[in-house]
Amino acid sequence: MKKLIVANWKMNPTSLKEAEKLFNSVKDGVRGIKNVEIVICPPFVYLPILARLSSEAFGVGGQNCYFEKSGTYTGEVSAVMLRDIGCKYVIVGHSERKKHFGETNDIINKKVRSALKEGLGVVLAVGEENRDSFDSKGRWTHELDPVLLEQIEGALKGVSKARLAGVVIAYEPVWAIGSGDTDSEKAATPDDIFSAKLFIKKVIAKNYGRKEAEKMKVLYGGSTDRKNARKFIEDGQADGLLVGGASLDADEFSAMAKSISSHS
Ligand code: PGA
Repeated sequence: MKKLIVANWKMNPTSLKEAEKLFNSVKDGVRGIKNVEIVICPPFVYLPILARLSSEAFGVGGQNCYFEKSGTYTGEVSAVMLRDIGCKYVIVGHSERKKHFGETNDIINKKVRSALKEGLGVVLAVGEENRDSFDSKGRWTHELDPVLLEQIEGALKGVSKARLAGVVIAYEPVWAIGSGDTDSEKAATPDDIFSAKLFIKKVIAKNYGRKEAEKMKVLYGGSTDRKNARKFIEDGQADGLLVGGASLDADEFSAMAKSISSHS
C-alpha cells in the first residue's frame, strides 16, 4: 500500500513568505521520492497560493471545513471551496478542533459527509484522551476501544461503502500529541499503534465488511519525528503519518518522508 504522510501546520507560520519558503524547502527535500504521497495542510489563507505549487504526489489539503456548501456562515470555508482551489484532502475531527472549537461527533459526521460528497479525501482523526492506567503486567495501557468505536462509527454514520474509499483514519492519541515524548515509558510505542490499527480495522469490517477494512489506510499521529517515523511504519504497521510540530521543519519532515518511502 502506498504510504501517506500529511503535514498539519496548524496555525503556523505567521507569514506567507515563511509558508512559501517552508513549502518549497520540503518540496525540494523530497524530490524524486517514491511510493509515498505527501500532503501539506497549511492555514486556509496560504492554501490557494501553495496549491499552485503543488502536484499529484505533493498535494495540499485543508485542516478543517464547514459542512454547508455556501451561505450565511461568517468565517467558514466549505469543502467545495477547498476542492475548487485544488485540495486533495481535508483533516476532519482533529482533537484541537474538539477542545477549542467544541466539535462534536455529530458535527464531525456532517463534515465528513460533505467533504466526501465534494470528492475530497478525508483524513479522519480519532484518538482517546488519556493514557492513565496500568494493565495486570504493570504496563501502561489506555481505554481506547470504546472511545475509538464511538468516534469512528459516529464520524462515518451514513457514509456509504462507495464513499468510504475516500476516508483515511489517523489514530492520534491525544496524550501523545505535541508531548515531544518519544522515548519515556509513557511514549506511544509501535505496539500501541498496531493494536489501535487492528481495532480500527475491526470496526470498519463490522460496519462495511472485511474487504473495505483491508483497503482502509490507518495513519499514526502524535509526536512523530525523524527518529521514530520508521518504527511506527515498520513495527507499528501504520500506513503513514499525520505530523504536527515536526512538519514545520523542512529537513525534519523531508527526512521523515524519505524514511517512510524507503520502507514502502
Ligand atoms: P504533533 O501533532 O506531531 O506535534 O504531536 C500531531 C497532530 O496534532 O496532528
